[in-house]
Amino acid sequence: MAEIGNDITKAKSLLERGQLVAIPTETVYGLAANATDPIAVARIFSAKKRPHFDPLIIHVAGLEAAEKWVKKIPESARRLATKAWPGPMTILLPKKEVIPDLVTSGLDTVAVRVPNHPMTLQLLRQLDFPLAAPSANPFGYISPTSAEHVDQQLGEEVQYILDGGTSDVGVESTIISFEKEVPEVLRLGGKSVEELESLLGELSVKSHSSSNPVAPGMLESHYAPRTPMILQEFDSKTMNAASTGILTFKSPVDGIPIENQWILSENGNLEEAAKNLFRAMRELDQKPNISLIIGQLVPEQGLGRAINDRIRRATTTQN
Ligand code: TXA
Ligand code: MG
Repeated sequence: MAEIGNDITKAKSLLERGQLVAIPTETVYGLAANATDPIAVARIFSAKKRPHFDPLIIHVAGLEAAEKWVKKIPESARRLATKAWPGPMTILLPKKEVIPDLVTSGLDTVAVRVPNHPMTLQLLRQLDFPLAAPSANPFGYISPTSAEHVDQQLGEEVQYILDGGTSDVGVESTIISFEKEVPEVLRLGGKSVEELESLLGELSVKSHSSSNPVAPGMLESHYAPRTPMILQEFDSKTMNAASTGILTFKSPVDGIPIENQWILSENGNLEEAAKNLFRAMRELDQKPNISLIIGQLVPEQGLGRAINDRIRRATTTQN
């Protein structure tokens, strides 16, 4: 069990000594360490059992702080950052030498983000290094959206969890690259494609190409519960209602006990659905009587795209 609290000074001093601290963000909780200290960063990989080929995001307090760690910020990226930071938006930028190769898995670019959470922003402003922080879950499992979720999975690995309440957005940040002429979305996330298009104009969305994962968040099996999850309709001939869990958008499925069903948003609100998504998957996964989870896709618009992306990756049979 880790200590859970809201002592920013304590978090700061642990991080300055190369230790891991879990931090709240508006998307999901992160497992943070000093991004300029390779030994501290190595602790993240081992705590998460994360393969070294999967690079980390660095978190900074603002655009000005970001400039210290990257060689340049293209004009379009700068315009986006000015409007979208702090927020659920990660930008790939050419890294300076001072960012260890371990953070970027040897890539020349580093993923940078300014999280929109008052506690974490306050912490970042007091540090003279960025925080490398992947989601605070064991590699491949569902991301945590509360301090308790972090404690359940990584409580033995992390000394201190900064408790900033439930994450408001609930899905990870959108990742965007400016390496090509047309900006490329590499991971769908908390900043919708529609919003990005209104800020940037033409975009390409690459997040479904799994053959060559530029961003290993693109690996198909990710964010998965341990209980098998499928995207088929409930079929009373082949499935047992009592042991089937349902992850539904706004209305329950007939014939399944209501306590086996998680309704993401009764009003059909995609923001609310995103906020509930990972908690819902986690709670269904933990119900001892449930041996199969049926997922349902939500409308493919706004945050719905990121929600559907996570649901598809969580399913055992790829749909
Ligand atoms: O919302 C978020 O982004 C959360 C919070 C904690 O900030 N973090 C997060 O980190 O989701 P993580 O490590 O779970 O996912 C980071 C993704 C990975 O899929 C990684 O492959 C990709 O970012 N990534 C990082 N650096 C990259 C780079 N230089 N090029 C391409 N992809 C990169
Ligand atoms: Mg993750």
